[in-house]
Amino acid sequence: MDAAELLLNRHSQPRLTYPGPDSAQLEAILQAGLRAPDHAGLTPWEFVVAEEAGLERLGEIYFRAAQADGAEGEALARARLLPTRAPMVITVIAKVTEHPKVPTIEQHLSAGCALMAMQMMALNLGLGGVWRTGTYARHPLVREALGVAGEDEIVGFLYLGTPQKPTQARTAPAMDPFVRRL
Ligand SMILES: Cc1cc2nc3c(=O)[nH]c(=O)nc-3n(C[C@H](O)[C@H](O)[C@H](O)COP(=O)(O)O)c2cc1C
Repeated sequence: MDAAELLLNRHSQPRLTYPGPDSAQLEAILQAGLRAPDHAGLTPWEFVVAEEAGLERLGEIYFRAAQADGAEGEALARARLLPTRAPMVITVIAKVTEHPKVPTIEQHLSAGCALMAMQMMALNLGLGGVWRTGTYARHPLVREALGVAGEDEIVGFLYLGTPQKPTQARTAPAMDPFVRRL
């Protein structure tokens, strides 16, 4: 896919089904993540790939977090199933290193860029994806279970798979309110 076409028409695909990325596609997706802009070469990311039993393990982590928050019945059952909305979920973690010239925010941004690069590579491969966070991205039990500590952050869960139906990009907002010249 042409780069301009990708950037101007990119959109999320919240409704995903099988097949998910195969091993060659996953390799290309992860390589795109590793090309994210990275001040001082700190490689401030970790990509945790979940598919099949991995999705169940992620669901179990959500379940325990929901249970700790007092969820019951339907809500509790739903927590366990959230990751199974796609054949693959890549948790993108910003791994922060203390550095005199690279503040934490730059390392979080770099991980966000990695996530978007992976989503764009998935689109380029004819797959679909959606960037999700929600309360579980910040939940202490989820952080602990995924080895996220201190200033590290879960910047997102990238859900990947085959779009259930063709979707179109939403209309881009009008430019004027967001652009000014100095
Ligand atoms: C940091 C971040 C977190 C997000 N978290 C969620 C989320 O938890 N659930 C959700 O439905 N959309 C979430 N979104 C929004 C979607 O990824 C998507 O961008 C939005 O639905 C707009 O659709 P589009 O990408 O097709 O323009 C998040 C986006 C960002 C940048």
